[in-house]
Amino acid sequence: MQASVNGVQIKYTDEGKGTPIVFVHGFPLSRRTWQKQIEALKSTHRVIAPDLRGLGENEGVSGSTTMDQFADDIHALLQQLKTGPVILVGHSMGGYIALAFARKYPAMLRGLVLVATQSGADSPEAAAGRRTTAGKVKEEGSKVVVDAMTPKMLAANNQDKKMADLVRAFMAPSKPDSVISALLGMAERPDSTSMLASIAVPTLVITGADDIVIPPAESEKMAAAIPGANLKVIPSAGHLVAFEQPAEFNKALQEWLKTVKA
Ligand code: MLT
Repeated sequence: MQASVNGVQIKYTDEGKGTPIVFVHGFPLSRRTWQKQIEALKSTHRVIAPDLRGLGENEGVSGSTTMDQFADDIHALLQQLKTGPVILVGHSMGGYIALAFARKYPAMLRGLVLVATQSGADSPEAAAGRRTTAGKVKEEGSKVVVDAMTPKMLAANNQDKKMADLVRAFMAPSKPDSVISALLGMAERPDSTSMLASIAVPTLVITGADDIVIPPAESEKMAAAIPGANLKVIPSAGHLVAFEQPAEFNKALQEWLKTVKA
C-alpha cells in the first residue's frame, strides 16, 4: 500500500484487525525486516509497518532527514489510517524515531517497544564519523554502508549464510542520497535521555545479548529510567534481534502485549 505523506510517497504494510501496533525499521533497512513479527501478530492485532521516507521501496530523498521528520511522517500516516493511539515498536534508528514520536505525540501512544536502541545523542566524534561516511557514500554509493553494516547485524557466531544474504538484501536497495539523509539526521538528533522519565505508557525495552552496534548496556540504562519498563535481553542475537531470533523475540513481545490495555 502507498500513501502521500508530508510531500513524499510512503509504502507501507497494513494487515489484520485489533489494537494497532506499528513497526519502525532501522538504518538503512526496510519494513521487510519485520516480516516475522507481521506474520505472528496479524491474527490478533492491526499491524502497520511503513518504509521510512527515502528507504525501502520509497523514492529517494536528499538533504538531512531528522528524527522529528520521520516521526511526523509516521504520525501523518496514522492520521490517514485513522488508527487512534498505537503501540509503537522502533528498532535502532526506528527507536530514535519512536522517542521523537513519544515526545511530540504522547496522546497517540498506548505502548512503546524500544528495540536495540539508545536514548543518547551522538558524541561529537560519532557525529563526525557519520559525516565522513556520508561523504564516502556520495562518492562510492550505498555499498560503503551495506558492506560495513552487514557483518554487524547478526551475532558474531551466527554462521547462517542465508540469513546474512537476506540482511544484505534488506539494505542493498537503499539509495545513496537517502542513506546520506538518514546519516545526517542521526548525527543531529537530540539527546532523549531526559524525557525517558516522562514516558507514561507501558514500555518494553528489548535487545540482543550480542549486539555490537548498540551494546545492551544502553537498553539497561533506558529500562532503568523509564517508569515501570520491562527489559528483555535475547541470547544469541545481534543488532537485528527481531529478525535473527524471531521466535524468542515474538514470545517476549506477545507476553508483554498481554499487559498493555487493548
Ligand atoms: C540502525 O541500525 O538503525 C543504526 O545502526 C543506528 C545507528 O547507526 O545509530
